[in-house]
Amino acid sequence: AGTAAVIPAAGRGVRLGPGAPKALRALNGTPMLIHAVRAMAASRAVSLVVVVAPPDGAAEVKSLLDTHSLPERTDFLVVPGGDTRQESVKLGLDVLPPGIDIVLVHDAARPLVPVDTVDAVIEAVRDGAPAVVPALPLTDTVKEVEPRTDGSPEPVVATPERARLRAVQTPQGFDRDTLLHAHETVTDGVTDDASMVEQLGKPVVVVPGHEEAFKVTRPLDLVLAEAVLARRRA
Ligand code: C5P
Repeated sequence: AGTAAVIPAAGRGVRLGPGAPKALRALNGTPMLIHAVRAMAASRAVSLVVVVAPPDGAAEVKSLLDTHSLPERTDFLVVPGGDTRQESVKLGLDVLPPGIDIVLVHDAARPLVPVDTVDAVIEAVRDGAPAVVPALPLTDTVKEVEPRTDGSPEPVVATPERARLRAVQTPQGFDRDTLLHAHETVTDGVTDDASMVEQLGKPVVVVPGHEEAFKVTRPLDLVLAEAVLARRRA
């Protein structure tokens, strides 16, 4: 029985502004991807980390893994990614060796997730949940709108009850066979892996997420991430 983490890191990161692929941008001098890899390898349960690199960046990612210090008890693999996040995850799943029965899928864009959150996700899968997501309650009220592309004001359609909503993070954890089955069956465009398991009609459960597992998406998130790292070092 073993646990592997697949890290999709093939996105361009256009919302972050111009520059290198998002995962390769530095946070306090170290590429975001290396922070994310260390966050997964920090869990003693994780024996393998599969990085899904930008399609033309696999060699660069390999050399990054070689030149940064990483735990010796963990194995690392690098594969080139695809056009969508879903495709990239699938390409990572394709190289998992036998003997892995729990799979984490973790965005490179969430470099600062604490190890306790990673371990809580793994624990819940071990306890029998086919799919587990870390999540937090929302602070903002959320409205569903009728999207407009012409710049005119968007009409509000509904206001879901905030207390019933959760903002979902990664790593998401899965029973390996469940996740493989989901990726073979579900083809719709989805933004997370757990929703594919939901579409199969299997239960997905939530464990507490963490504020520091936020996704680095926009320029302000870089400022926040570097402040968190500086505080950890202090
Ligand atoms: O775009 P989004 O923020 O949802 O991306 C989440 C994660 O998926 C990022 O770590 C990104 O690098 C990855 N991704 C990928 N392949 C793509 C698109 C996104 O691995 N084609």
